[in-house]
Amino acid sequence: MANSKKLAELARRREQLFAMGGAERVERQHQMGKWSARERLAALLDPDTFQELGAHVEARVGEPAPADGVVTGVGRAGGRPVYVYAQDFTVVGGSLGEMHAKKIQAMQDLALKAGCPMVGLNDSGGARIQEGVDALSGYGEIFRRNTHASGVIPQITVIMGPSAGGAVYSPALTDLVIMVRGTAQMFITGPQVIRAVTGEQVTAEELGGADAQLTRSGVAHFAADTDAEALALTRELLARFPANNLEDPPRQPPRPPEPVDLNGLVPDDPNKPYDVRRIIAGVVDRGSFLECQAGYADNVVVGWAHLDGQPVGVIANQPRVLAGTLDIDASDKLARFVRLCDAFNFPLLTLVDTPGYLPGTAQEYGGIIRHGAKVLYAYAEATVPKVTVILRKAYGGAYLAMCSRSLGADLAVAWPSAEIAVMGPEPAANIIYRRELEAAPDPAAARREKVAEYRERFANPYVAAARGYVDAVVEPAETRAALIRMLSALMSKRESRPSKKHGNVPL
Ligand code: HXC
Repeated sequence: MANSKKLAELARRREQLFAMGGAERVERQHQMGKWSARERLAALLDPDTFQELGAHVEARVGEPAPADGVVTGVGRAGGRPVYVYAQDFTVVGGSLGEMHAKKIQAMQDLALKAGCPMVGLNDSGGARIQEGVDALSGYGEIFRRNTHASGVIPQITVIMGPSAGGAVYSPALTDLVIMVRGTAQMFITGPQVIRAVTGEQVTAEELGGADAQLTRSGVAHFAADTDAEALALTRELLARFPANNLEDPPRQPPRPPEPVDLNGLVPDDPNKPYDVRRIIAGVVDRGSFLECQAGYADNVVVGWAHLDGQPVGVIANQPRVLAGTLDIDASDKLARFVRLCDAFNFPLLTLVDTPGYLPGTAQEYGGIIRHGAKVLYAYAEATVPKVTVILRKAYGGAYLAMCSRSLGADLAVAWPSAEIAVMGPEPAANIIYRRELEAAPDPAAARREKVAEYRERFANPYVAAARGYVDAVVEPAETRAALIRMLSALMSKRESRPSKKHGNVPL
């Protein structure tokens, strides 16, 4: 039967597609601790939901290679559709040529049109050298689509092998980057080039491994130990995000918080640190907090949680690290997280305990003014419900920046331990009582007295509450209940901004 010949032809082609680079190369991949593209997709997607698309696309240069080194299609994760591509290092090193790129672009176009998330699994030798400028152009087309989809659909990239040179910029344009320790490497110029140009000796892992890009550069948002862990995390993130900017993030069944003694957690001494993550745990649904960029600029903690089942983005100063000051890296981390949450309809819960900006020439020359401005911009621009809790210190510009009422919080509450002031009691007393202190017979005792007086008068939440900058002073133990009441009544909030081409966020 003629038909059986045609079916046999399809079966033969499918077998090739299934084998990808062949058993030997797949084995080499396994020896390196890496899965093949198909194994990765099987772990990422719900069973039997993957529909491959573009499998028969071939390069115009060289011998045809299975799937041209990238498996593309649509599947489901947690029952919800997601467009995917997975580069396969076993086929021409997963390198990106014209047609390989076209396959990725086709998924980007469909994902944007359908309003579904896009996930990329990267494992590639970069631009396919034989394809020259066609390969470069392929990247350009991908970058353009990454940018156009930004803020419309969630885009996640998992780096599971090399990602070098300009190839790093597609991941960098996506919302979240996950890297696998030991196998993933991202850098613009590799160790050999750096050695030749600057003389610095650095290994590829030190330079661009998961931990380097997570903790030193802030390029990665998460590091995972294995392919399996990275893909499980990707599923978890997809489960938390809406499919697109017109939908809300999925609610979860409410759960009580961890039992934390919130009333006893913040030390009376304003100079004593504590772990703000304990406060987050005591406020949000048990086990719901997923920290983002943990290990980078830990003076601010950001992540997603559920509050009585409602997804929220949490931003908190961390008094344990650099006393909770805001610096350049923390500003970048915070501002980008706020904009990501705003784009995808996560209400913002901000927990404030910061003495201000980190002083120093490194900060000033590094542009803390420019970077710090991003925080103000991001909060003021955001239209999602915004609720702020002032835990303890909220001084000066940092008070304003951390989603104060003046900047646009819908509601601000303070704990009785809150100190809302232009600056801390010591420097304030030194300045405003300078003459009296100089004239005092015992300046040290006089200073202590004046500091106590200042603290009594200004370093409390009631001066701000008297002017309406704080809507309620709550007992720490009541915070969760208060937040649930406030947020649930803000979910229908509508706010719009003047129409414009786009703002000019300080970058
Ligand atoms: C074509 C490539 C390739 C590439 C790897 N291969 N990279 N083919 N173009 N860019 C092929 C190899 O020839 C080999 O084919 C197979 O993939 C596996 O590669 P190996 O070198 O054997 O693997 P390994 O030893 O693990 O080394 C991996 C590697 C190395 C470190 C990634 O392959 C490498 O350095 N590749 C070149 C990287 C590079 O310079 N790319 C261009 C970057 S510039 P066979 O048939 O032997 O198995 C760039 C710019 C993008 O990407 C710009 C965007 C704006």
